[in-house]
Amino acid sequence: MNVLVVGGGGREHAMIAAIARSRKDPSIYAVMSKKNPGIAELCEDFLLEKETNVEKVVEFALSKNIELVVVGPEAPLAVGLADALEDADISVASPKKKVAQLEFDKAWARNFMRNNNIAGCPVFDVFTDKDAMDAFIDELGNVAVKPAGLTGGKGVKVMGDQLPDVEAAKEYAASLLDQGSVVVEENLVGEEFTLQAFVDGKNLAFMPTVQDHKRAFENDLGPNTGGMGSYNAPGEILPFLTAEDVEGSKQIMIDTVKALYKETGQKYKGTLYGQFMITKDGPRVIEFNARFGDPEAMNVLPLLETDYVDVLAAMASGTLDKLAVKFSKKATVCKYAVPAGYPDHPTKDKEVVVGDIGSAILFYSSVYEKDGKVYTTGSRAVAVVGVADSIEEAEKIAQLALENLSGDLHYRTDIGKGYLIQRRIDHMNKIRGQ
Ligand code: AMP
Ligand code: GLY
Repeated sequence: MNVLVVGGGGREHAMIAAIARSRKDPSIYAVMSKKNPGIAELCEDFLLEKETNVEKVVEFALSKNIELVVVGPEAPLAVGLADALEDADISVASPKKKVAQLEFDKAWARNFMRNNNIAGCPVFDVFTDKDAMDAFIDELGNVAVKPAGLTGGKGVKVMGDQLPDVEAAKEYAASLLDQGSVVVEENLVGEEFTLQAFVDGKNLAFMPTVQDHKRAFENDLGPNTGGMGSYNAPGEILPFLTAEDVEGSKQIMIDTVKALYKETGQKYKGTLYGQFMITKDGPRVIEFNARFGDPEAMNVLPLLETDYVDVLAAMASGTLDKLAVKFSKKATVCKYAVPAGYPDHPTKDKEVVVGDIGSAILFYSSVYEKDGKVYTTGSRAVAVVGVADSIEEAEKIAQLALENLSGDLHYRTDIGKGYLIQRRIDHMNKIRGQ
């Protein structure tokens, strides 16, 4: 079987590593903008091209007799890559543009949730006019402000965080109006986590819950990033969540998939990513993504016991109900090594040397290979994952591996450490009034 993965980051390296474990012994192909050495090594052949160049990707897929495609990042979905591949009669385990809107148009996503009575939707409104928006910000008093379009996770600002007060919120919101509509919503208080599912249009197979760490520095300080690292606990429930929290979040995703079909007439096929805030009133949706999370994919895919190629084929053909999707009940800790100065002033083009990483799994992300050496690009460079029976052991494996990478790199030592997890548990206990 010939399988194509679109994308060249850590998430896609993890996807390709899972495909490479398949008992079907597939031939793997990739499209990526820069040569990721981890991906290149596992591929039969690859095309160095922008992932959003729909015409070139389809042409490459046809020339390699690709039977199944999965798309890693959101940008190609937003320009209709899945639609174009299906038009060329190639099976795709990623969503078409109309349903991927759930990720790339935040205004559409919120209105969709409200119109379909999906639980977990915060109080919000969408604005194109400053006066009405200011009045709403005054009414809510404590808000999050988001541009409606894709911003790579960097356009969202929240009061008490990047926005000191109501006036700053109004000013920031007004500055976004030039680029299009603006979403203003209540500021949710709680702990964030990620729930991902394989979806075939109708059926959902859920993965273990994961917690990402968006802040650049230790103790959740510094600017937001794409995610500095993430962990999961053995089983599917993070230490600060209850079974009820997870069930409630699953139901929201099940209802979302059903409503997407009702509203668009199109089935959502592919991985669906729910970013939730668990609040005193239960789960609230921060956002949906139409793909795997990065780093979250690197936590769950190494635990996938079911053949990933079977899962991809079942998503594409709508037969996920015939497959028992299983994950091993282990903990993982994933930590990213990023260029010094990331995200605001990262160093670039610095060599990364991988030493002895013990039993950790390594995924290359935003790096490129030249003359057999690996260099940084300015974005998250290399991720290491520890897999073990406890979070504590997994953390040690990941940490030791990081210490054996050399280069002009920075990483967070605290991700997966007991004290940080205890802080999450205490925070939730306080919120729940326990
Ligand atoms: P996003 O780009 O939607 O993932 O948002 C980036 C970050 O902003 C999230 O990880 C949250 O920490 C925060 N955020 C987004 N929306 C809200 C909200 N309504 N209330 C509180 N925090 C939010
Ligand atoms: N880890 C956050 C994301 O992939 O959007």
